[in-house]
Amino acid sequence: MAARINYSVQNTLCLLNPLNYPVNAKTTHFKTGLNFSKNLIFPRKLKRPTFCTCAVSNNDRQSSEAAETFVLTTPLYYVNAPPHMGSAYTTIAADAIARFQRLLGKKVIFVTGTDEHGEKIAAAAAAAGSTPSQHCDVISQAYKTLWKDLEISHDKFIRTTDPKHEGIVKEFYSRVLDKGDIYRADYEGLYCVNCEEYKDEKELLDNNCCPMHLKPCIERKEDNYFFALSKYQKQLEENLRQNPNFVQPPFRTNEVQSWIKSGLKDFSISRASVDWGIPVPNDNKQTIYVWFDALLGYISALSAEKEQPDLQTAVSSGWPASLHLIGKDILRFHAVYWPAMLMSAGLDLPKKVFGHGFLTKDGMKMGKSLGNTLEPNELVHNFGSDAVRYFFLREVEFGSDGDYSEERFINIVNAHLANTIGNLLNRTLGLLKKNCQSTLVVDSAVAAEGNALKDAIEKLVEKARIHYENLSLSSACEAVLEIGNAGNAYMDENAPWTRFKQGGAASEAAAKDLVVILEAMRIVAIALSPVAPSFCWRIYEQLGYSKDHFNTVTWSGTKWGGLKGGQVMAQPKPVFARIENKTELEDEAATRKPVKSKQKKPQAQVAAEEL
Ligand code: MSP
Repeated sequence: MAARINYSVQNTLCLLNPLNYPVNAKTTHFKTGLNFSKNLIFPRKLKRPTFCTCAVSNNDRQSSEAAETFVLTTPLYYVNAPPHMGSAYTTIAADAIARFQRLLGKKVIFVTGTDEHGEKIAAAAAAAGSTPSQHCDVISQAYKTLWKDLEISHDKFIRTTDPKHEGIVKEFYSRVLDKGDIYRADYEGLYCVNCEEYKDEKELLDNNCCPMHLKPCIERKEDNYFFALSKYQKQLEENLRQNPNFVQPPFRTNEVQSWIKSGLKDFSISRASVDWGIPVPNDNKQTIYVWFDALLGYISALSAEKEQPDLQTAVSSGWPASLHLIGKDILRFHAVYWPAMLMSAGLDLPKKVFGHGFLTKDGMKMGKSLGNTLEPNELVHNFGSDAVRYFFLREVEFGSDGDYSEERFINIVNAHLANTIGNLLNRTLGLLKKNCQSTLVVDSAVAAEGNALKDAIEKLVEKARIHYENLSLSSACEAVLEIGNAGNAYMDENAPWTRFKQGGAASEAAAKDLVVILEAMRIVAIALSPVAPSFCWRIYEQLGYSKDHFNTVTWSGTKWGGLKGGQVMAQPKPVFARIENKTELEDEAATRKPVKSKQKKPQAQVAAEEL
């Protein structure tokens, strides 16, 4: 376990026990079978130290020099409108992956940011009566605030209006120009401003409507600079052959293959009609196309905060990315255009591009352009960030589309977080408080000797790890939840509350059972922490650990045996407040004053017989 307790058990127990009650005495009493329900094992006056403050060993963490770097990016979000739940979804998923990779001991560089140039943004600013630059400041800040509220742990936030980014885009453009891959030509076609892309007539709906935004595309004729994408057809095909996992999930590879196979057309990388952008080097009548600008944000983000970097310095700060996480609508840009641009500039390709599905409302992609969005601030405000993060990652199979319904949201988070995990922890701590002075009677390793639950949990944790590695986030959540289910079944089968009442050996066994269940809870707190970090910290806190301990724990801490005899648990306190559903609310409204928030006051549900 990474968060290894450095002290010997003996010393640890002395630290934990302010009365310095001899450890051996406790264990001896235990072995001789004193009646636990009478609380004879520990003196009643024993005061609880607030938390276990055991030092954490970093032995299992790789030193930062040796650690493998994992660079992970979200798309850079358009600032035409404030973020909605669809934008938050990519970032929540990226955050869970980043947190998991950190648990593995990797040096993670988690990049997110905003895409601030182009026609669409200029038009949104004008509509809001602002200058583009003021507008970008406001919306970019709205993203930053939401990321904070959702506990997003990004390391870099890049804005494409940042001067250091502009320098890098120009340098990249010049490299590609020097390679002979940029030429000037006239172009005439149908343009979707929302996609910021020329469209092929055959992909459009009636009236030349964009199938994504359901708005008509505009006839455009421009004298532009073009990127010679067609030159890279063979190299792109070769890349897919050599790296069959380059595009994920696997079914999206076929889509990319067929785009490439159907023949790649050069695309225009400048706009004569757009002022709000980075000027084309040596031709300030044109600005660089938003995508040829924004994709470079993945590299410019890597440079140190205050420095004005060149392309090479930024590249040497972490490029290539290990993973670009994107929605399926922008797969072509990431799996075709971007790799070709990088090939042209002589830079390495990202290792993987994962295209997830859409959050939909009534079957349509939720989005700023259609205006059918779900307000993430409201969800976080009403239900808390853990519930929002958990629901979307658990409910939507990562890679596929998923629809939101409030009823389903409430049912899932109540059943999983409040009941399966929260209530089990609370019941167990209640029994431990009543019968063992909130103190563990033996090490969890000893308590679980010959116990099948331990083996089952070890298997489930390994399953969760593999799912996280494969970006199967929903399945990872499911495996962790299974630990909670197994813990509940174990509790119900062994009914420790009855056995405490029997005294003697039955009491001893019951006390051990509580240690086993709490150890399972400790493991859940680590394994689910990428998805629901605050919730997991609250579990950890209940187990008597300090915040430092939680913050330095690694995945190897999921190994069975972390809880030690003598460790004192915190006062039982519910870790997740059940959410009232509408029906409950309506029923209650009829009988008493309306409730302000939808979250109930935390209440533990303990069966009467357990008391
Ligand atoms: N600015 C470009 C990305 C440039 S990356 C160098 C862009 N921005 S966006 O704001 O329109 O979309 C950003 C991300 O949000 C995309 O991955 C998109 O798929 C995702 N989502 C937007 N709406 C979504 C849903 N309704 N559901 C899930 N994700 C969706 O494209």
